[in-house]
Amino acid sequence: MSPMSRTAADDAWDQLAAQIRRCRRCAELAANRRHVVVGVRPAVARPVVLVGEAPGAEEDRTGLPFVGRAGRLLDELLVDAGLPRATVAIVNVLKCRPPGNRVPNRVEIAACRPWLEAQLALLDPGVVVALGGTAVAWFFERPVTLAQVRGRVHELRGWRVVPTYHPSAALRFGPTGAPRTALLQDLALAAAVAG
Ligand code: URA
Repeated sequence: MSPMSRTAADDAWDQLAAQIRRCRRCAELAANRRHVVVGVRPAVARPVVLVGEAPGAEEDRTGLPFVGRAGRLLDELLVDAGLPRATVAIVNVLKCRPPGNRVPNRVEIAACRPWLEAQLALLDPGVVVALGGTAVAWFFERPVTLAQVRGRVHELRGWRVVPTYHPSAALRFGPTGAPRTALLQDLALAAAVAG
């Protein structure tokens, strides 16, 4: 993008990204990370916003979201759903990799919450796709099971949210497993809702 075509929204995103990269609220995560994985934002108004859990090893190494095995499967499913990766925003509940890819804990999720809140405010999503239990719980703010809530659009705090499986569950259960079929259906639902 040339400097002339930059918008106020680009500047606001970059300023927020710089703040997130300086964050040291979680001492253990800050001490072990190689990169803070801020996420990516497309040059599209009211984008579909995918929200994952936290960076894994490849994401920590590269600084980019969903570039490991789960990310490659996600790319395939996005294409099949009619949502090329370049048109979607991708962010995570946690911006730093938990050591050994453990599940983020409550304290870390609370510490990182303002960053995701600020990102969503800037992104102004057409629809959000919450990938996996951690992201789904972040939006519902109460215990829910994926089986209860997936496959539908939920209005949550002003956002339209499609809860679904994490691509790593789709990998775990294989190409004919239920999570992969459901994830593809839910991405297609998000594409339809976003228009
Ligand atoms: N898993 C996630 O939840 N997010 C990533 O960015 C990569 C793997």
